[in-house]
Amino acid sequence: MIAPPVINIMAGAARKAARGLLRDFGEVEQLQVSLKGPADFVSAADRRVENLLRRELRKARPEYSFLCEESGPEPGTDTANQWVIDPLDGTTNFLHGIPHFAISIALVREGDPIAGVVYNPISDELYWAEKGSGAFVNERRLRVSARRQMDDAVFATGFPYRSRPGFDRFFRLLEPVIRASAGVRRFGSAALDLAYVAAGRVEGFWEVGLQPWDIAAGIVLVREAGGYVSEIYGGRDVLQTGNILAANDHLHTPLGELLRSAA
Ligand code: IPD
Ligand code: CA
Ligand code: CA
Repeated sequence: MIAPPVINIMAGAARKAARGLLRDFGEVEQLQVSLKGPADFVSAADRRVENLLRRELRKARPEYSFLCEESGPEPGTDTANQWVIDPLDGTTNFLHGIPHFAISIALVREGDPIAGVVYNPISDELYWAEKGSGAFVNERRLRVSARRQMDDAVFATGFPYRSRPGFDRFFRLLEPVIRASAGVRRFGSAALDLAYVAAGRVEGFWEVGLQPWDIAAGIVLVREAGGYVSEIYGGRDVLQTGNILAANDHLHTPLGELLRSAA
């Protein structure tokens, strides 16, 4: 499969930024034993990746706007097209030397995510999708899993940080899904969770209160792999509320019903 031009731009930027990120990850593993820990070092690494991505994407499409986790919104002369970027998704993993994190880049056109790249530099898996062209990991076509039964299904989720609203509600949602399914995983990177749904590794993913940069690229991946993405509570715009439910075609409805009844 020949990747479309916009994917080549995003993938090129992600791969370039990943080189520095991998070097920094090596350092972080060393820093685990120091008293101060690697927190400042990691936030500097995070900002370096974001700056490099902005530079590369601006070179290719000088007029597009940006929404980046670290630097916030930055309107360009073209406000309809916006790059939505999480330079490091899975920061807690990175900080602890756990090799599961990603760079996430989406192109959002008039509020609609139309292209996405999620790159895991450790496994060298580059997940990509453009609306209407299917979803891929590297050269391989992706398809959501075919499992139909709740009790065969494995779901991914994310726990809210202790300071975030919705902490208690989260546990009310978790219990019925654990009881009904074959298992629930908390991997620590929402962008990769969505890529895993697209790849059929898990049947679905839900989380509340995420940000657009956590999910914009992954939404395109899941939809192009034949899955469904919606707002858990029926809200119109999942990018705005960040309450995301993504699953294969068979389990999207039952998982949604379970979550809503538990809320
Ligand atoms: C976090 C990860 C995590 C999710 C959190 C996000 P970050 O992003 O995606 O899986 O549970 O809600 O904030 O902070 O690592 O970029
Ligand atoms: Ca994130
Ligand atoms: Ca981040």
